[in-house]
Amino acid sequence: MPAEILDMVEAINDALGRLEDALEAERAFTAEAAHALRTPLAVLSARVAQLRDLPGAQPLRDDVARLTRLVEQMLSAAQADTLVVDPAMQSDLAAIARSVVADMAPIAIAAGRQIAYEGPDACPVMGDADAIAHAMRNLADNGLRFTPAGTEVTLTVEGTGRLSVRDHGPGIPASHRDTVFKRFWRGAASDLGGTGLGLAIVKRIAEAHQAEVGISDAAGGGALVSLQFHRPPSALPPDRGLLPGLRREAAGQPA
Ligand SMILES: Nc1ncnc2c1ncn2[C@@H]1O[C@H](COP(=O)(O)OP(=O)(O)OP(=O)(O)O)[C@@H](O)[C@H]1O
Ligand SMILES: [Mg+2]
Repeated sequence: MPAEILDMVEAINDALGRLEDALEAERAFTAEAAHALRTPLAVLSARVAQLRDLPGAQPLRDDVARLTRLVEQMLSAAQADTLVVDPAMQSDLAAIARSVVADMAPIAIAAGRQIAYEGPDACPVMGDADAIAHAMRNLADNGLRFTPAGTEVTLTVEGTGRLSVRDHGPGIPASHRDTVFKRFWRGAASDLGGTGLGLAIVKRIAEAHQAEVGISDAAGGGALVSLQFHRPPSALPPDRGLLPGLRREAAGQPA
């Protein structure tokens, strides 16, 4: 190869290396900044809680809650960026979904919504249980925010290693199905208090698992967001997982 081309290739490689370092530094900065903000925010939150019914206290509490959510989501996004999934790791998708439903049931009930699990007793997939739970919580959180009062958010697991979260809200229009995964994108629903990072985190966690993310319309209306995971080579054929142990666990009452 001519020397000037070799020089150019070297220069490009150097530049890419510096870019990678800069990106890494940015990620580390985001993670450290978000982490450093957590403690003072927790202190602020406790102080604001003591203001009780003083005039102006509620908007202040709402602001602190929003800021806390933003910092938590920024930290999650930075953590998801560096997520590497050990190919030998296995998790039970059904157990994770049930525990997410149980964790989020009080939030759903307090908001007058329901949350339920439908699927087999167990469904082994390849992946990191903590990260998968994190992705599911973000999807369930979206569902609970958009589903109308008195309706249900359903987490369904299929024996093929597929998780779907459905709600009864307005759905996600086909024209937005790529954009919703962009960081800080919140669409018309920005007044619902999100930070626009949840689906970007879900997408990154899916990528680390080589899992496919899909958005479609649920039958009868609402959004249906799915993650298709890989099953371990040792797993039973998918239909065996679905038949005997199919169960439903629900929390919350219709309004
Ligand atoms: N189930 C859903 N139904 C309708 N629109 C949705 C749904 N889930 C996401 N969206 C749209 O996609 C946007 C991005 O969602 P994402 O979860 O990334 O951010 P967010 O929920 O606004 O904030 P957060 O970082 O707190 O999750 C939402 O603001 C909303 O406009
Ligand atoms: Mg969200």
